[in-house]
Parts: sequence; C-alpha cells; structure tokens
Amino acid sequence: MCRIKKIMFGEDELKRIVSDVADKINSDIKRDGIDKLTLLCVLKGAAVFASDLARKIDVPDLRIEYIRASSYGMGGVSRGNVAISGLTSEIENSDVLVVEDIIDTGRTLARMREYLKDKNPKSLRFCGLFDKPDRRVADFEADYIGVKIPDEFIVGYGLDYAEKFRHLPYVAVIEPSDDEQ
Ligand code: IMP
Ligand code: MG
Repeated sequence: MCRIKKIMFGEDELKRIVSDVADKINSDIKRDGIDKLTLLCVLKGAAVFASDLARKIDVPDLRIEYIRASSYGMGGVSRGNVAISGLTSEIENSDVLVVEDIIDTGRTLARMREYLKDKNPKSLRFCGLFDKPDRRVADFEADYIGVKIPDEFIVGYGLDYAEKFRHLPYVAVIEPSDDEQ
C-alpha cells in the first residue's frame, strides 16, 4: 500500500480554487456571448471537479458530456500512448469546454485536442484543475488552470493511484511503495 505523505489542498482551498476558475470561465463566456455550452468531462479523474465546476458555470443551456482518455497501463502517469473513446454526443458547431483533472506531460490533452478538432466544434477550450508545468513533454497549454503544482504525485478529489483514493475530499501527496511501482 502507499501512504499519504501530506495534504496539499484541503476542502476549503479546493472550493476557492474551483470558484476562481469558474469566475474566469464565466467572464469569458459572458464576453463571448455564449449561451449554450458543452462541458466535456474527461473520465475518470475529472468527474469530481467537473461536477463542482458545472454548478458554478453561468450559462442558460449547459450540457454535461463525458469522454474517456486512457494512457496504456495502470498505476501512474501517461506513457505516451493515449486512447480516446466514449463520446456519445455530436459536438459539431458547439462551444466546448473540456474539463480535465491534471495536466502533466500534456500528451493526453494534446491528443484530445486533435481528436476533438476533427469533429469541428464552434469553439474548443481546455480547463485543468491542476497543472504540473515542469513535467510538460507535449506542446499543450490549457486556457484555464486551477492551480500550478510542483512535480509530485497527488491523489484525491477524483485523482487516483491505481484506481484508489478518488473519493478523498482533499488532495494529498502519496509515497508509492516499491512493491506497487
Ligand atoms: P498527461 O497526459 O501526462 O498530461 O497526463 C494526464 C493524466 O495522467 C491525468 O489525466 C491523470 O490521469 C494522470 N496523472 C498525471 N499526474 C497525476 C497525479 O499527480 N496524480 C494522479 N494522476 C495523475
Ligand atoms: Mg486522467
């Protein structure tokens, strides 16, 4: 088992971070006159963030849709091959906001951007709750970031280690044990 080393963001801090990012999104939506938005949640990690964020987005017509991105293999960060699946709705001519838990190497969202652009949305923006800019490999920057963090592996508030810890209401740094590497 791996241990929780320290708490990085408590519940109140997470609420503030989510509210701040929602404020930025809302002001852009207003500026751009968007009254219908598709919030596209990247499963599984962004499910908790997306459900809190969605309730703070101020558009009369908000659709919540889901898409799956998986890097091959379990238990850690992406290894370069990203499989995208599970989009069940049309996004052609829609304003789309992709919601992701964390941007690490950037490969997942770089690949996601290509995949979604092919479907001709009216606009396509990306929001990541956490960003580890020091780890970037792919050429990708999100339009909205909740908070930048150092290069540490975090869990909780939707983020997992080998499918565990997603339910924690706070975000913590873990120390993986050798037998699980
Ligand atoms: P990227 O393709 O390297 O940007 O990785 C993005 C994906 O890697 C995220 O959607 C997460 O699933 C996973 N990931 C990267 N860093 C962490 C972390 O610190 N905790 C949990 N998952 C992470
Ligand atoms: Mg993920």
